[in-house]
Amino acid sequence: MTEKYHRNDPMSDVISDDYRMLQLINRFGITLGFGDHSVADTCSAAGVDTATFLAVVNYVKDETHSRPDALADVVSLPALMQYLKNSHSYFVDYRLPHIRRQLIEAIDYSAGGRIAFLILRFYDEWAAEVARHMEYENTSVHPYVERLLHGVLPAETFESIVCRHEDSHSSIEKSIAELKSIIIKYSPTGTNAQHLSDVLMEIYMAEEDLLLHCRLEDTLFAECVRRLEREVRQRGTTADIGNNECPADYSSNEELSEREKEIVAEVARGLSNKAIAEALFISVNTVMTHRRNISRKLSIHSTAGLTIYAIANGLVSLEEV
Ligand SMILES: [Fe+2]
Ligand SMILES: [Fe+2]
Repeated sequence: MTEKYHRNDPMSDVISDDYRMLQLINRFGITLGFGDHSVADTCSAAGVDTATFLAVVNYVKDETHSRPDALADVVSLPALMQYLKNSHSYFVDYRLPHIRRQLIEAIDYSAGGRIAFLILRFYDEWAAEVARHMEYENTSVHPYVERLLHGVLPAETFESIVCRHEDSHSSIEKSIAELKSIIIKYSPTGTNAQHLSDVLMEIYMAEEDLLLHCRLEDTLFAECVRRLEREVRQRGTTADIGNNECPADYSSNEELSEREKEIVAEVARGLSNKAIAEALFISVNTVMTHRRNISRKLSIHSTAGLTIYAIANGLVSLEEV
């Protein structure tokens, strides 16, 4: 890969070529108004590591993300972690609440009733999943890397810490795809069409931004951490190796069986797994197996999403939920 931007390029070229760079400079703490100054001069004035800034900019511009190892050669891990932390704050404190406000404005809750409320609940569950994910990175993944930067090899490995992460990137990506699909398919009549298009555009852009963030962590950030881990290990510190397997991705277009439809209906009526087991004379384990299969088939993983599906497909009436 040939890098698109270099230290002596005017910073204004970086921004005017690609609107995504606006978010990127904010997260590095660089503000607009840099005149004709170069990338290096602008970064230096803002106290930003130029090589790390260029590595992230060039990573974003390279749609294939095929050479994280070349970019990792020049990255400063503390600078990259600060960028990731700032990105977490941006998503959790600004972007996601902003989309929620737009969603409230777009959907007519008096006309939409229960479905409108469930769409909002689905959104809130997804936003909470993203916030938990980023909190875990701030409080577990980054401190692990900081210990490595201080020359300490912790008992766990980077792989095990990342894989233990319950709310993985693939889960966040699946959930935002479900959210878009639910809004597109099930938005109640009476919804403000222009506002709804606006909020969907916002969600598409947030999705693009979030996926890029996840890719950067999975490739460039992970490559930098693995290198550091190897270096610290080679210096002779011993470590316990514990590797957990990451959950596999899945997708399917299979239809629900009659039994699975019954279970979706009971979930929509608000029954717990135990209550469903008692109502259908099956074990709780069997209910849980059915629920896993249902989520796999529908690509819907939350109770709010299943409830919307049940209403929209006539498995329950609005009055029952
Ligand atoms: Fe992150
Ligand atoms: Fe992440």
